[in-house]
Formats: sequence, C-alpha cells, structure tokens
Amino acid sequence: MSFPVQAAVEGIGHGGGGWIPLVHAAEVDRAAPIPVPVTAAGLPWALVRLDGEIAALYDVCPHRRVPLSAGKVAPGPSGEVLECGYHGWSYDRAGACARIPALGENLVPRGMGSVAVLRTSVAGGLVWGAAGDESDPLPTIGADDVFLHSERLALGVAALDDTLGASVVDGAIRAGHDDRGALRYAVRAVGDHSTEVFPIVTAARRTGEAHDWAARLAPLPIHEPSRLPSGDTE
Ligand code: FES
Repeated sequence: MSFPVQAAVEGIGHGGGGWIPLVHAAEVDRAAPIPVPVTAAGLPWALVRLDGEIAALYDVCPHRRVPLSAGKVAPGPSGEVLECGYHGWSYDRAGACARIPALGENLVPRGMGSVAVLRTSVAGGLVWGAAGDESDPLPTIGADDVFLHSERLALGVAALDDTLGASVVDGAIRAGHDDRGALRYAVRAVGDHSTEVFPIVTAARRTGEAHDWAARLAPLPIHEPSRLPSGDTE
C-alpha cells in the first residue's frame, strides 16, 4: 500500500487503535462464500470467514486493483483463502498472498502481493475491527444488549452525536438521552460525511426501543451505500 492508505489504516478507530463496529457476523455467514464489502474511515474492506474465523482484508487486489469482495472463499495450500475473481491470486487471513495461479503451486515469492488486514473480533453479534495495539480492549457489551440492523446516514460522526445528543462512553459506543429516554449506539465513520450507526436496545424491551430508534432515525438523512471509498487516495 502507498503511504496515504497505510496512514489511513492506522487511523482506523480515530488514531487510538480502538475497535470499530463493521457488520453483523450473521451477514458474513449469510453471504458466504462471497465476502461482504464494508467501508471504514474511507477505506474498503472485504469481510469473509476463513477456516472458521472472520477476516477483514483490504478490498483491493494488488494485481490489477479489482475488489477482492468480488472473489470467493476457496481451498488454499494451507487453509482457506480469499480468491480474487479476476486471475485467482489468493490471500490468507493474515493478508499474505498464498497462491498465484500463473506461477503454479507454492511458487509465490515471499511478501509478494500481500494486502493489509484489520484485527477482528466478534462481540454482541457484531464483527469489530481494529488496526492498533493488540492490548486495546473491546468495548464493554452487556449480556442483555442487542445491536439492531445498522443504518447508513449522510452525517459525519460528530454531527450524528450532536444531533442525537450523545457522547462517547466506551470507544465506538455512544450514550445520551432524549425525550424518548436513554439511548445507546455504536458508530463507524464510513467517510468524512457518512456514518454507519448500530442502535443498541435491551433484549427485554427490544420491540419498544426499536420503535423509538425508528422514530429517531426517520428524520435523519439516509446515505445511499457506495462501493467507492471517498478517502482512498492510493
Ligand atoms: S486482479 Fe486480482 S488476480 Fe488479477
């Protein structure tokens, strides 16, 4: 990757290496063996389960720069790989190029064609990603917390927090209070002016709280999802 992209990767989680919510894990499993494309801080990622673990690979094939999310899971030389749909270059969970069909089996020059990855973890049914320190703790998620389907909004993170009257309580988790009561959500910056918001409700009061969230989000500007990241300057 070029320096601007590397710097942006390191800025995932607002420079602190914190964890950000990417997608519901169930979506990754529903889409299998095709990856789920996710944009975080202007960069595209392909999320896919390889050998039982969800991996987040930078969604640009180093060969001809097509999205890896257009590829699929395939058996590799030593475990499952994400195979590019164009010429079959294949990548393992760590982003290392494991196969280049034109070179034959086991003939990938060391370090050739590797892609960046995010560390991933699943908590509360969400896949979380981080680019920072191994020791960064995941946000605290209660046993009774349920993350609703996410919504893509045409608002930056700060504008969203201002609009909902919420503030940071734990990494990507926000909390606030409005005339419907207490509210909490997890948020990811998609680009400078768009966010993915994951409303949090309590299992025992899910229906009522989901109704409150629908009313809160209805007046906000919905963003049409785009495959093209605004901040990818590579
Ligand atoms: S573009 Fe991915 S293998 Fe050629």
